[in-house]
Amino acid sequence: MSCNIVVLASGRGSNLKAIIDAINKGKIDAKISLVISDKKSSGALEIAKQNNIQAKFFDPAFFETRRGYDIYIAERIKKENPDLVVLAGYMRILSDEFIDAFEGKLLNIHPSLIPSFQGLKAQKQAIEFGAKFSGATVHFVNKELDNGPVIIQAVVPITLEDTPETLSEKILKWEHRIYPQAIKWFCEGRIKLEGRKVIVENAKYGELPVNPALEDF
Ligand code: GAR
Repeated sequence: MSCNIVVLASGRGSNLKAIIDAINKGKIDAKISLVISDKKSSGALEIAKQNNIQAKFFDPAFFETRRGYDIYIAERIKKENPDLVVLAGYMRILSDEFIDAFEGKLLNIHPSLIPSFQGLKAQKQAIEFGAKFSGATVHFVNKELDNGPVIIQAVVPITLEDTPETLSEKILKWEHRIYPQAIKWFCEGRIKLEGRKVIVENAKYGELPVNPALEDF
């Protein structure tokens, strides 16, 4: 049975595009039923429309509180009865009510190896810290910011010449591979959660630069 996905995005939507491409190529047995953005100008809304996916902008300015906005969009998402809710560059901190509504089926991608460099501008944080590696992480969302159980990570070396922009570009290339892979595993029912440890059934662990190893991307 095909996996029903709702995507939330604030920005240009390149991760959304990578997920759509993987679905269109038949690599993931899934359908995106709705894309929601908190930004009217989000490229993600355009990408959704170009792919005949329902795209909705909900303006946070119409809500008095973050909680009020989150409860509203949670209700809207529930109407789609999703198997999975994917945050793809969604730049708002989610309130507890939203996380409670979808915990266990709510994924995020973060442009660092969490728990390093959580929060905003992770790539700039890594460079300013002088880290020699950073990367990307797909994780379950819990109530701690960018701190949920890790599904898959990709390591990216940092050179002396790197700027936040060049590092972001390098990390993004891996984001576009590990996010569709994690979604595929989720939709196939291969992801098990034991406490805060994620186990992908029959995955190959222990290799660089992506752990567990990519299978399809
Ligand atoms: C991606 O790099 C994603 O990891 C990051 O925003 C970018 C969105 O790009 N997300 C966060 O920083 C969340 N804390 P996209 O709109 O092209 O997918």
